[in-house]
Amino acid sequence: MILLTSALFFVLGHVMSQTPDNDRINCYPEKGAVPLQTACVSERGCTWANDTDHPKVPICHYPADYGYEVTSKTRTVHGYRVQLRWKTGQSCAFSTPVQTVTLDVEHQTNNRLRFKFYDQSSPRYEVPMDMPGPDTAASPEYEVGIPDSGLFYINVTRRDTGTVIWDSSFGGFTFADQFLQISTKLPSRYVYGFGEHEHATFHHDLNWRTWGMLTRDESPGPPVQETAADGTMYDVERNNYGVHPFYMAMEEDGNAHGVLLLNSNPQDVTFQPKPALTFRTIGGVLDFYMFLGPSPEEVVQQYTQAIGRPFMPPYWSLGFQLCRYGYKNLEHIQNVVDSMRNYNIPQDVQYADIDYMERQLDFTLDHTNFHGLPAYFRQLQDEGMKTIIILDPAISKNETNYPAWDRGVQMDVWIKNEDQSGPAYGKVWPEYADEFLPGKMENASWDFQVENYRSLVGFPDFLKPSTHDWWHEQIVDFYNDPTEGIRFDGIWIDMNEPANFIPGNYDPTTNSGKCGNNIWNNPDYTPWVMGDLYSKTICMDAHQEGTDGTTYKHYDVHNLYGWSQTPTTLRSARVATGKRSIVVTRSTFPGSGKSGGHWLGDNTSKWDHLHKSIIGMLEFNLFGIPYIGADICGFWGEPDREMCWRWMQLGAFYPYSRNHNQKDVIAEQDPSAWGPEFAEASRAVLLTRYRLLPYLYTLFYEAHTKGSTVVRPLLHEFRTDRNAWTVDRQFLWGPALLISPVLEQGATSVTAYMPDARWFDYYTDSEVSSSSRGSNVTIPCDMDCIPLHVRGGYVIPTQEPATNTKTSRQNKFEILVVLNDDESAEGRLFWDDGESADTIESGDYLLLELRANAGGFTTIVTHKGYQPDSTTTIGSLKVLGLKSTVGEVKLNGVSTSRYTYRQNVLHITGMNIDLAASHEIRWSKTTSAAVHLIPARWQLLFVFAVLCALLT
Ligand SMILES: *[C@@H]1O[C@H](CO)[C@@H](O)[C@H](O)[C@H]1NC(C)=O
Ligand SMILES: *[C@@H]1O[C@H](CO)[C@@H](O)[C@H](O)[C@H]1NC(C)=O
Ligand SMILES: *[C@@H]1O[C@H](CO)[C@@H](O)[C@H](O)[C@H]1NC(C)=O
Ligand SMILES: *[C@@H]1O[C@H](CO)[C@@H](O)[C@H](O)[C@H]1NC(C)=O
Ligand SMILES: *[C@@H]1O[C@H](CO)[C@@H](O)[C@H](O)[C@H]1NC(C)=O
Repeated sequence: MILLTSALFFVLGHVMSQTPDNDRINCYPEKGAVPLQTACVSERGCTWANDTDHPKVPICHYPADYGYEVTSKTRTVHGYRVQLRWKTGQSCAFSTPVQTVTLDVEHQTNNRLRFKFYDQSSPRYEVPMDMPGPDTAASPEYEVGIPDSGLFYINVTRRDTGTVIWDSSFGGFTFADQFLQISTKLPSRYVYGFGEHEHATFHHDLNWRTWGMLTRDESPGPPVQETAADGTMYDVERNNYGVHPFYMAMEEDGNAHGVLLLNSNPQDVTFQPKPALTFRTIGGVLDFYMFLGPSPEEVVQQYTQAIGRPFMPPYWSLGFQLCRYGYKNLEHIQNVVDSMRNYNIPQDVQYADIDYMERQLDFTLDHTNFHGLPAYFRQLQDEGMKTIIILDPAISKNETNYPAWDRGVQMDVWIKNEDQSGPAYGKVWPEYADEFLPGKMENASWDFQVENYRSLVGFPDFLKPSTHDWWHEQIVDFYNDPTEGIRFDGIWIDMNEPANFIPGNYDPTTNSGKCGNNIWNNPDYTPWVMGDLYSKTICMDAHQEGTDGTTYKHYDVHNLYGWSQTPTTLRSARVATGKRSIVVTRSTFPGSGKSGGHWLGDNTSKWDHLHKSIIGMLEFNLFGIPYIGADICGFWGEPDREMCWRWMQLGAFYPYSRNHNQKDVIAEQDPSAWGPEFAEASRAVLLTRYRLLPYLYTLFYEAHTKGSTVVRPLLHEFRTDRNAWTVDRQFLWGPALLISPVLEQGATSVTAYMPDARWFDYYTDSEVSSSSRGSNVTIPCDMDCIPLHVRGGYVIPTQEPATNTKTSRQNKFEILVVLNDDESAEGRLFWDDGESADTIESGDYLLLELRANAGGFTTIVTHKGYQPDSTTTIGSLKVLGLKSTVGEVKLNGVSTSRYTYRQNVLHITGMNIDLAASHEIRWSKTTSAAVHLIPARWQLLFVFAVLCALLT
């Protein structure tokens, strides 16, 4: 009895715990820690138990009653205010616990709940982000449970099903100055999100996995090894460029919810198989937003309603884009573009990476190698193409007459060091002017090069309004400069984690980086990120400023660097170009999707990155950043021809479709570089993309206006189908187009899961056997193939393709109707001029509802604020999945003979009807019953006989 009631007992040399293995929350969470029993028990107030053989179950865990007590709970207008008190005498391993914590529970809307823990007596840092406040929540879909007294916990139940979707009642809750931790039980093992990392599967592995979140210039890849205090090695997952403390979880019945921890400090999360999840962050407040869905798609819509809807990309930015780092000169770029054109491979955008600059200095032009670039880019623009240039944030101070630096000093834009005596200098690009001689550094180590040949740089503080003015001035001046300037169409912002090639701020005594030893640079608890917090960036104690004199430690706002740079860059690009423009950013945070797209960073030319890129795309669609893709054919490393070929096929279905290469890679990997067969395969798949662009563009309209995903995981459309919950080698465009790419070397077939719906092969129009519904099918797939299927129930607007969107936009539309089991289908088309700013806001667009049933098809103009060119008509209509034959077709009441009906496919051509008008197309069953009754092989003869009879 005594053994059973005490927390611990001993059996055969094991210290035992009554807490089941999977309920144990690690009380020694720090990287490389070697747990000690005495410290566990006396310094940390935790439970020591080594009674398990499972290597990942923590030896030292929090007791179930660890945390805060409820001292009061009062009703507020929108929910509750709960006062919590740190339990008397309880130890805390990291920094000082806040003694009294306030929890505000806000029923914000029926499907959005907020609960926020903070310190009422002493304001703490909070993310400077506009989130919506409480609205009406007359009948919330959730119910919050908090005890009236005793040990604090919070649970959230979905009202109509009784599913508990949040439950923190298992210990470890801590709100210390630099260690804030809360755990929750999860309602299922199917959890998605958190970033930015490279995950092996879209649904998380819950087997004791920890993911750190700190923006870092770090290529996606396998975990890295670090050395523990006792000399053993341990793995740390790479923390990549962005930070997204957001997950979506499935409930067992197919409902879904999402949770955002609105916190921008360095942090990590740990999954354990209970299933449970622990959040740990080292600053700010615990500000949770919960989105009740109940469908996964609604979760994303509700999430983006709170953090901001994705921007509307210009039409051309959905075209194929080509880039590389290491173009040697203008001729090099010209040769690549010419080569693309020789093969007629579609291309809309040509990039210039930092090569175009003089010594990688922003807002300059290398007159030796790229003198003619501005004129060439203008020529490309005249020919219907677009251009994007790169800008890095760090600005060199080692220059004479460099306006970017000099104006920055005048306008006081730099992030400052801790005592504010000057800028927090780093070393990134460029090299020193005088010392820059080609070949000079060729045999030196990277660190030697950085220390001895690189300029000092300042980092613009993009939280500060004067920095926006400065950045704007630089961008607009550069665009308009008659000798240096480039008339870009979009801007690519890189290195904005912010990246620094020395660890911390510049230290003249070592020529490298250094940070003071204090609680910001070396906090008690460093989350599971690579290295020190300041490795590859500036010191965490650096000084930043916001609006109205607010000041910040870089520690709090490091993760907001790219986030704060993106909107101001888009605004400047829009002013400079006078058009919609676009910004693609490497570092992101919740809300970045409002003004920027993202690529998945400096990936590697390896086969497994094809699959990983799909997972990354699905995740960024959850994060409200649907304009997403990976560098096609890989950035680092020499690409393999077959891999690059398959990657071009996959990348043709990235919303952001760009082939990009690293400087030291010898191979040219653009699709024209591999010979005619490769070029033809790339051309074919890109033409398919271009044909489908009206559908993709409409999906972006839906994302911008409703917050929908563009690239959509299967589980969003088939949420009660368990098989769909783990599919991450296939993806959908919206609800209707299923893409099942080849991801393996040497593969000549694809195993594709076909969820329960009517599916048709996009290329052959043939219906997938209904016996395949809800099962895997093996699709033979040679090198020319990437399987595409269209789903019954949807109308997909397409357009005859061309080699750039300026031309394709003038071609005829081809409407694809795919009927479901009930022989109905619906869809939409959004259309505008593709490049003016804010057309949706100003109403300058066309919106069509497209509907079909067994007897006909209608287009209904629901918004008419744009009139396309007279050539841009609806040319044809194809209907898949009709169950009876067609004998007559009427176009707006007039009979037409320009149609064929073969194997249940009705194809009406030569229509040429105005896109911006409502139309009705009716078809009816075969008029002559006789024809229908005569066996097929006799039909022709019969028709011939009838014709003869008529003629005689
Ligand atoms: C468990 O811990 C106890 C106390 O520190 C120690 O004596 C024992 O050897 C440990 N057993 C195992 C299996 O590690
Ligand atoms: C949730 O909290 C309430 C209030 O303390 C409690 O009555 C209820 O039992 C809890 N639900 C679960 C599933 O633990
Ligand atoms: C770069 O600037 C630093 C700081 O002002 C100075 O010490 C250094 O001499 C400069 N180096 C060069 C090569 O101009
Ligand atoms: C670099 O090393 C190679 C091989 O040892 C040598 O041939 C070359 O001259 C070196 N370059 C410089 C700039 O020292
Ligand atoms: C389909 O195939 C995948 C991969 O082989 C497998 O994991 C999955 O369980 C299969 N699904 C079904 C429904 O058989």
